[in-house]
Amino acid sequence: MSDGNLDLAADHRARAQAVDLAAFSPAQPDLFQNDVMWPYFERLRKESPVHFTPDSDHGPYWSVTKYNDIMAVDTNHQVFSSEGGITIFEQIGGEGPLPMFIAMDPPKHDIQRKTVTPAVSPTNLTLLEPLIRERAGQILDSLPVGETFDWVDKVSMELTAMTLATLFGVDQADRRKLTYWSDVVTAAPGHGLIDTPEQKMQIFVEYHAYFTELWNQRVNADPTGDLISMLAHGEATRDMSPREYFGNVVLLTVGGNDTTRNTITGSVYALNKNPDQYAKLRANPDLIPSMVSETIRWQTPLAHMRRRALADYELGGKLIRKGDKVVMWYVSGNRDEEVIENPDAYIIDRPRPRQHLSFGFGIHRCVGNRLAELQLRVIWEEILKRFPEIVVVSEPKRVFSTFVKGYESLQVVIPRRL
Ligand code: HEM
Repeated sequence: MSDGNLDLAADHRARAQAVDLAAFSPAQPDLFQNDVMWPYFERLRKESPVHFTPDSDHGPYWSVTKYNDIMAVDTNHQVFSSEGGITIFEQIGGEGPLPMFIAMDPPKHDIQRKTVTPAVSPTNLTLLEPLIRERAGQILDSLPVGETFDWVDKVSMELTAMTLATLFGVDQADRRKLTYWSDVVTAAPGHGLIDTPEQKMQIFVEYHAYFTELWNQRVNADPTGDLISMLAHGEATRDMSPREYFGNVVLLTVGGNDTTRNTITGSVYALNKNPDQYAKLRANPDLIPSMVSETIRWQTPLAHMRRRALADYELGGKLIRKGDKVVMWYVSGNRDEEVIENPDAYIIDRPRPRQHLSFGFGIHRCVGNRLAELQLRVIWEEILKRFPEIVVVSEPKRVFSTFVKGYESLQVVIPRRL
């Protein structure tokens, strides 16, 4: 960390202590972009773990910041509904939020989820593994040695885009379109990728047209194992409206993309920040699976999920009223010192590395969690065969978002091959 970053972190530690909690909203994307939200969440966990913000850019809302409270909300879909949206912000668009099964309650959620689950079943993952390994090897073999390059662009995006293109059954030549569309979905207008909501809508038109064409192709062909064919032929999904189909496409594009990409990048960054852990990994590659889980906890690629209360509910001594918006801050729960020992530290051989909130819990628990872990494991098995070290040369550029917690770029150099 540079001196400037240390100053900024110290400044925010002081500000977090001084801030008036009664009016405080942790949903400030610049805090996340500068990676300085930690002391604010630490204070909330201590002083106001179930916290009400009366007014914010997203209206009034509750913040749930402790591990067990988050678990209580996430596993209680009878009271905490996902219907209509799972982010603190509302979606841009004329016709209201796009319907997608992550933003639905039972029974519709359950039957739509069941339709796509076979794509990421253990059997399918076993079939996918050699392909992922071959691609990971090709990507790594093509990297420059002794030259600075962006790990996000050359590795994290490439591998995850290739996997997603395979899952959708689309041409590999189009893989980076998926990455681009996924980024547009989560981009804040005026902060990099797109300038205005209108521009976002315009890109959505192309994205929509591309996937409508795919639906038309698949619905008129015999069923195959790809996600589009599953949706087009699935009993629960074949009659859904074009908007609902597109909503689910958006879910699967974003779900299968940013999260895994940001974990791949996060692993390189975290191991550089913690050279003792990197040395431990090199000395014992059997630690890869637990390093992967520790990175997923440490990174928390999705910082929050949002719900809406369907009934009055008491949590942590506070009364959440029917209709209130409730945000589960996974990013904070994963650093809850009462549940996870030494939670700010990155320790690749923790006793229970899968004990984290990053995939959520309950009926919406991430459907792709094993696929994400698989991609992470394989890329690291292949990295360790090839490079003694990947060196991060500057601090990463982080995403301006309170939802996607990730990296726009990470400059690295590979000094030599093994
Ligand atoms: C749901 C995180 C990778 C597809 C979720 C949820 C989280 C999450 C937090 C919501 C859980 C809840 O509300 O309780 C992650 C992380 C990943 C990852 C951290 C990588 C490290 C993937 C991949 C796919 C995927 C690779 C692709 C297949 C989905 C889908 C849902 C979901 C479809 C909706 C599930 C439902 O509503 O039933 N994910 N995800 N995710 N994820 Fe992931």
